[in-house]
Amino acid sequence: MTARPVTLRRLGELYAAGEPIVMVTAYDFVSGRVAERAGVDMVLVGDSGAQVVLGHPDTTSVTLDEMLTLARAVRRAVTTPLVVCDLPFGSTELSDEHAVATAVRFVNEAGADAVKLEGANPARLSRIRAIVAAGIPVVGHVGLTPQTATALGGLRAQGRTADGALRVAHDAVAVAEAGAFALVIEAVPAAVVAELRPGLRIPVIGIGAGPADGQVLVQHDLLGMTEGKAAAFVKRYAALGDEMVAGVEEYAREVRTGAFPGPEHGYPAGEDAAAAVRAYIADLPD
Ligand code: KIV
Repeated sequence: MTARPVTLRRLGELYAAGEPIVMVTAYDFVSGRVAERAGVDMVLVGDSGAQVVLGHPDTTSVTLDEMLTLARAVRRAVTTPLVVCDLPFGSTELSDEHAVATAVRFVNEAGADAVKLEGANPARLSRIRAIVAAGIPVVGHVGLTPQTATALGGLRAQGRTADGALRVAHDAVAVAEAGAFALVIEAVPAAVVAELRPGLRIPVIGIGAGPADGQVLVQHDLLGMTEGKAAAFVKRYAALGDEMVAGVEEYAREVRTGAFPGPEHGYPAGEDAAAAVRAYIADLPD
C-alpha cells in the first residue's frame, strides 16, 4: 500500500500529539528515493546541496537554476514526504515580488510543496508574509543562517549569551507571527530552544538545537558520505563514503587484472554471430 502524502495538516497533528517530525535533505533522484523509502515526514532540498553535491565553497554560490534542477530531481523521486525547497541566496533579496516570483517557480517548475527562507530581519519577514499571502507555505530558519554567516561572524553557534539568546527568541517569534508553518533552528543551545518553544505555536525543527518538535540533518552527513570533520550536531549513522570508495577501488582492481567482466556480465551470442564477424574482419582490405 502506498503511504498517503504528508500534508501541513498531518504535520500539525504530529506537532499537537508531541510526535517528533523527521526531516532530511535530498538533492537528487537517488537521495530522494532514500528519503521516501525510509519514511521521513519532510524532505528538504537544502541549499547545502551547493557544497554537498555541486562542490561550491558555500551556500551563497548556488544559483536559482541549479537549485531548481536539484528540486525537480527530488520531486520525481518523492511522493509521500512533504517537499520543502530552500530559496537560495540572491533569489528573494530585491523585493517581495521577487521573492514571490521565485517561490512560484519552485512550485510551478519543481513541484515544491513549500519553501524555506532564512533570516528574520524586517525585509525577510516581509518576504515570508508575501509568499504566504501568495498561497505558498513557508518554513522559517533562524539561529545560524549559513547564507548570512559572514554577518554572523562565521559558521558558529548562535544564542549562547543572554543578548544572543534573546535575538534568536525575537527572530523565532517574529517568523512564526509572519506566517511560517514550521521553523528550523540551527546551532542554538538546547536550553535556549527549550525555553523558546512554548512561545511558538509552530513546530521547531532543530539542527544542533537539542530535542525539539522535529529534527533535520543533511542526508550525506548522516550517511557518512561527506569528507572531513562534521559539525558537532551531526551524528553519523553509516560510513557509506568509505564503502563507496572501497567498491570503486575493487572495481578498478578487477578491471586492471581482467577479473571483471566475467561471462555472467554479458550476453550469449547466436551460433554463427562470432563466425560472421570473424569472416567480415578477415575480408577487410589491408
Ligand atoms: O540547506 C540545508 O541543508 C539546511 C539545513 C541545514 C536545515 O538549511
